[in-house]
Amino acid sequence: MSTQPLLWVPGAVTTNLRAIAMNTRKVYIETYGCQMNLADTELLIGILKPHGYEPTKTVDHADVILLNTCAIRERAEERVLKRLQELTYQKARHPGVRLGLTGCMAQHHRDLLLDKAPYLDLVLGPDAYRTLPALLAQEDKDEPLISVRLDRGETYADVTPVRGEGVRAWVTVMRGCDKFCTFCIVPYVRGRERSVPLATLLDQVRVLADQGYKEVVYLGQTVNAYRDGEHDFADLLSRTAAIDGIERIRFTSPHPSDMSEHVIEVMATCTKVAPYLHLPLQSGSNRVLERMERGYTLEHYVALVERLRAAVPGLALSTDIIVGFPGEDAADFQATHDVMATIRYDSAFMFKYSAREGTKAYKWNETLSEEEKVQRLQTIITLQERISAEINRQAIGQTTEVLVEGPAKRPQGWLSGKTRQFKTAVFPGGGAQLGDLVSVRVASTTAHTLIGEASV
Ligand code: 5AD
Ligand code: SF4
Repeated sequence: MSTQPLLWVPGAVTTNLRAIAMNTRKVYIETYGCQMNLADTELLIGILKPHGYEPTKTVDHADVILLNTCAIRERAEERVLKRLQELTYQKARHPGVRLGLTGCMAQHHRDLLLDKAPYLDLVLGPDAYRTLPALLAQEDKDEPLISVRLDRGETYADVTPVRGEGVRAWVTVMRGCDKFCTFCIVPYVRGRERSVPLATLLDQVRVLADQGYKEVVYLGQTVNAYRDGEHDFADLLSRTAAIDGIERIRFTSPHPSDMSEHVIEVMATCTKVAPYLHLPLQSGSNRVLERMERGYTLEHYVALVERLRAAVPGLALSTDIIVGFPGEDAADFQATHDVMATIRYDSAFMFKYSAREGTKAYKWNETLSEEEKVQRLQTIITLQERISAEINRQAIGQTTEVLVEGPAKRPQGWLSGKTRQFKTAVFPGGGAQLGDLVSVRVASTTAHTLIGEASV
């Protein structure tokens, strides 16, 4: 570990000399995991900026390197450990560089990390981001600086995140989770549920509208559990819809048990609220749902989907599914497969169960081999690909509204954007600009993309 007293006073290191010359300190952040983590990265930059730090996209230019991590599955953690090892070369080349780990994995493995990654300078949990500037201002010590206290009251409501350019702004409305599903590490690493005040959020969104953002995506681990006194999530949605300049409103991820009639009504009546919902199911078997302690039965979930589809015509649905939960037998898996075939989601995120130390299910024996889990996963991926392709094909010949986000990866010269149902569409530009809402006639489709003819 380096004993350099200041971040930007290394030896003869060209990149850091450049930082001295410009009197700025550069922070490079790699983000792993969910959308909330991406939003937290914007928050971290927002916390650091008033202290003289600027973000950089080039690791070689960085005085501070942070990996903002995820703990939800083991694979996510393995990737981070591998990357940390790669990044030690930066510390070897630039001895003044600080290397830190933030987010859920930092919270989950704070002790273990110091064994596995002794070259870390900082370990910061999700409720400790405010301590970052002070920790960076301290002398570089031989021992890493650790800040992992969970704080029930921390919402970062007063911090202005530094957002990326684009048409869509991610806004965290609540943090933490009180649900304690037996497979999930989130409540342990992100702490208890707490919401940002309604007035603060509406002020933030007004500013975003003035800055030219067209779409706002509300984020929370159980976003529809949002509450500020008398105001619930439905109030937040309807009040947001009244803000001029914001054309589309989305949110992720709602919990089926918190999906109130009031929210369904707002989705049905507010045209700005997108007809798209990510509604995690996890399993189609009541036996497994009960052991997961999800708080709903399959019948309750299916009835909810029916109410949503009746209320919001053209609603696109996506979900999360876990295969291979301890005790999931062939009949349980078949039930999941059959529900997916019946509900016909537009898309799905499908995962193999990953045992997480500290959760209730961690103590339960896994009853499937890795091969069996892979096979079950592959079976539902194949099913979902077919369904997604079939649903998308129905859009051929229709005209759909697309919010233009930028150039398409291919073909060259085409533009890319999202439909109101949150499907990716590519189309020949025809003079459309970033942030425009254009009508695109769908000429062909794949399981993942709508391909347009021309903007109308
Ligand atoms: N193993 C596999 N998938 C998990 N998820 C959460 N915890 C685990 C786990 N231990 C999935 C759930 C959740 C999504 C964000 O990640 O499907 O909805
Ligand atoms: Fe995890 Fe369940 Fe909370 Fe979602 S609702 S974050 S799956 S504990």
